[in-house]
Amino acid sequence: MNDSNIVWHKHDITKEKRAALKSQKPCVLWFTGLSGSGKSTIANALEEKLFEMGKHTYLLDGDNVRHGLNKTLGFSEEDRIENIRRIGEVSKLFVDAGLMVISAFISPFRADRDTVRSLVEPEEFIEVFIDTPLEICESRDPKGLYQKARRGEIADFTGISSPYEAPKLPEIHLMSGMKSVEESVDTIIKFLTQKGYLNA
Ligand code: ADX
Repeated sequence: MNDSNIVWHKHDITKEKRAALKSQKPCVLWFTGLSGSGKSTIANALEEKLFEMGKHTYLLDGDNVRHGLNKTLGFSEEDRIENIRRIGEVSKLFVDAGLMVISAFISPFRADRDTVRSLVEPEEFIEVFIDTPLEICESRDPKGLYQKARRGEIADFTGISSPYEAPKLPEIHLMSGMKSVEESVDTIIKFLTQKGYLNA
């Protein structure tokens, strides 16, 4: 719906002012990868590290957001597209609030991730590919979901009965199956430091 009677209201406290107050460059660190790849674990450790550094963050996590805002959505292609669209818009609002947002969703479709990328300024979107092979995710199976999917008890399971489209040119590519959580976090912190996100 696009209502021509709704007019955008410009406010005086801008993203730039909020960011300056926080001495950081707002951005969205968009984690993508299979279920069990380590997204939530790395995202959590990264947020802890940024918090210790005095940065203002917010972590949006698939499993949690699906308990609230998106609890009416399932895992059909249509619902996943809507899931990511809403998270993209929420991420954009939080970036506007001056925060460093960490979004951890499978987000299996390249087009949807690119749509989120286009919602914010070019440097505000940092795609982080948590590249853990299916075999490793399946052997970890922290929630027993792969076993259920193999038994045919879960439909449209990513990697088994629903596709995952890997990023072609992510800003950060973590082969996390072969790295510790600390090493992965260090790689991201190095990127953020070198690019000036942490001392704006
Ligand atoms: S997304 O594909 O729409 O981005 P999202 O990240 O929100 O997915 O949710 C993924 C989590 O939901 C998984 O980590 C897993 O715990 C759970 N889940 C339940 N059913 C499925 C399914 N069919 N495919 C993938 N994950 C599922």
